[in-house]
Amino acid sequence: MLVVANWKAYVEKVEKAKKLFSTAKRLATSTKVSIVLAPPAPYLGLLAPKNRSKVAFAAQDVSKMLGGASTGEVSAQILVSTGVQYVIIGHSERRAMGETREVIAEKMRHSVAQGLMPILCIGEADRDADAHYLTLIREEITSALAPLTEKQRMTVVIAYEPIWAIGKSSVDAIHDTDLQEMVLYIRKVLSELLPGKASARVPVLYGGSVDPSNIRSLAGGSGVDGFLVGRASTDPDSFTGLIKAVS
Ligand code: PGA
Repeated sequence: MLVVANWKAYVEKVEKAKKLFSTAKRLATSTKVSIVLAPPAPYLGLLAPKNRSKVAFAAQDVSKMLGGASTGEVSAQILVSTGVQYVIIGHSERRAMGETREVIAEKMRHSVAQGLMPILCIGEADRDADAHYLTLIREEITSALAPLTEKQRMTVVIAYEPIWAIGKSSVDAIHDTDLQEMVLYIRKVLSELLPGKASARVPVLYGGSVDPSNIRSLAGGSGVDGFLVGRASTDPDSFTGLIKAVS
């Protein structure tokens, strides 16, 4: 099981970032769960370069630019040199700020070229009776993977995060059976984009109002390989509860 902790901008103090990192290191050693922390960029610079633990780091975003004269941008190359292994791309909160599918495809291309593993976020804003949201999911996956070679596509992690379920309480999270259906659908789309049985090895995560009270039931039987957790990952006790529940 893979758990990615998306701290967003919740963690506002260096001391808290360090405490969460210590908690994650302890849990990564005492359980079989693979833990990836996605802190804000300045904390990456603080925690990732000297990291020799089982915990891996993800950036919450990456520049679409290659580097050079791009004030304020953090390129894929800079992330790699900091010791970062993953990058979240296409999170709905970034899409809401105007990030287009073209920009996402560009970010995917630069990231894998530098050896970063992209965690591609996809998800519908709402569900319609005619299941048009399935077409949207297909398009989001297809457009993001389009610039990648078949080999590069094998390094991608997919995070299914329905927008209607993000940042709410656990009762608003997706139902287990609906999640199972979505995982199957995403795997079907992936099987059309990757050679042979390679798509079966692409991790599919779920995100959206996951907390210690619902993570176990979401994991059981749905076919997900892990979770992308926001708010509940930013408190040491609740993060410990999350990891213990799936270990
Ligand atoms: P949430 O966020 O766990 O706070 O709902 C998940 C996400 O947006 O990645």
